Amino acid sequence: METMNDQPVAMPRIGDAAPEFKALTTQGDIHFPNDYKGSWVILFSHPADFTPVCTSEFITFASMEEQFGQANCKLVGLSIDGIYSHIAWLRTIKEKIEYRGMKNVEVNFPLIEDISMEVAKKYGMIQPGESTTKAVRAVFIIDPKGIVRAMIYYPLSLGRNFDELYRAVLALKTSDEFGIATPADWRPGDDVIMSPAGSCNAAKSRVEGKEEGLHCQDWFFCTKKIDKETILKKILKK
Ligand code: BEZ
Repeated sequence: METMNDQPVAMPRIGDAAPEFKALTTQGDIHFPNDYKGSWVILFSHPADFTPVCTSEFITFASMEEQFGQANCKLVGLSIDGIYSHIAWLRTIKEKIEYRGMKNVEVNFPLIEDISMEVAKKYGMIQPGESTTKAVRAVFIIDPKGIVRAMIYYPLSLGRNFDELYRAVLALKTSDEFGIATPADWRPGDDVIMSPAGSCNAAKSRVEGKEEGLHCQDWFFCTKKIDKETILKKILKK
């Protein structure tokens, strides 16, 4: 196993159980992922407190917290800073910083202190080619059973697109609920993708148009309509 300062450097994989940890956060102690069982959760890291790209990200994410909550998805942040730095930064954000018309934004989701880098190392958030002291912008989407379902990594200089993270959560939930896949740039209401036919007979019946509700351009490329209301009723809270 790869090591950094003689400590193992891990990299979770899609489909793995989310690595467990206990940590102090701006909202008190958490035991991850146990405390989040039954909810989707986005665990994300940022390089450092009091930095501008991170500040724009926190304002944006905090402004969307209710929207993510409607999708039963909680947010948990992390950086390699101490709790007092976190508290001071979040207070400054609320008191002084405006970004794209968003101001007086209170960050109510937990921000983990990780001075020891223990959590960052477990989640492959330290990528030495980028920095040995700052976490990259990592995103882990973890399902209600504590399984890592998606991972996205960005470098220090690149702020994330939070609409894409929301889209990814909705797409994963839709895939689970309806047993389908979602194509490029999919949004609720767009056609979904059926998994390819698993036998010659199934392929034949698909191209002959025998499967009700499917639109098949070829045996392996079949789509289906699921209207937006049907999807949102299933995946969003009332
Ligand atoms: C920022 O958040 O602004 C930032 C952090 C680390 C390196 C570059 C930019």
